[in-house]
Amino acid sequence: MIVTIDGPAGSGKSSAARGLAKRLGFRLLDTGAMYRAVALACVRQNVDLADESAVTTVARQCQIVAEDGRVLLDGEDVSQTIREPAVSEAASQVASQPEVRQHLVRMQRELGKERNLVTEGRDQGTVVFPDAECKFYVDAHPDERAQRRYQEMLAQGQTISVEETLQQIRERDARDASRVVSPMKKADDAIEVDTSTMPLEAVLDLMERVVRERLNSPAPKSQ
Ligand code: DC
Repeated sequence: MIVTIDGPAGSGKSSAARGLAKRLGFRLLDTGAMYRAVALACVRQNVDLADESAVTTVARQCQIVAEDGRVLLDGEDVSQTIREPAVSEAASQVASQPEVRQHLVRMQRELGKERNLVTEGRDQGTVVFPDAECKFYVDAHPDERAQRRYQEMLAQGQTISVEETLQQIRERDARDASRVVSPMKKADDAIEVDTSTMPLEAVLDLMERVVRERLNSPAPKSQ
């Protein structure tokens, strides 16, 4: 079974995906981390992020593993480095390029073959796995998302204000939602979960219940 969890930055989708995969015993795929790893490789190689063909070449040449909570770029553990603000910014630019997306989408579909998977991103339920048995779209109020990102950044020792965080979140949301290829949007058949005031455990209880119901009575596949 494939479970997709899409939603914007700071919506709580990563914690939900991690917790749900653990409860179900499914593999976890963080597709945002794949875009981040490509962005990091480009930054390190001084590649112009607007040069689609150069960025695509880097994406094809580097080896990325973004499963089960850690991220490896050419064998190096970059799980922390890819969370730095400069990489977040670069990842959003890289993710707007169609050829890079094509390449990573192909990899994601390959990873979804013949295994139980919880996969998180922006386009998992709409583009990558349109036939997924179970889809969620996780969102929260922008102020709440900014607070969460701010706390994460503080914990990483980064100095930034809540206002700056909110501004960055708004800019990235606008770019992710307005890009031509695979814009961030809810799949028609995704269940919407607003985590603004919902504790993580309640989000997980809801998701786990839905998945287990569907595991017992699979829905017919769409054409
Ligand atoms: O979820 P995240 O913040 O780690 O994602 C990093 C960037 O990659 C973000 O700008 C959105 C983009 N992204 C995407 O376009 N498609 C995905 N499936 C996952 C992430």
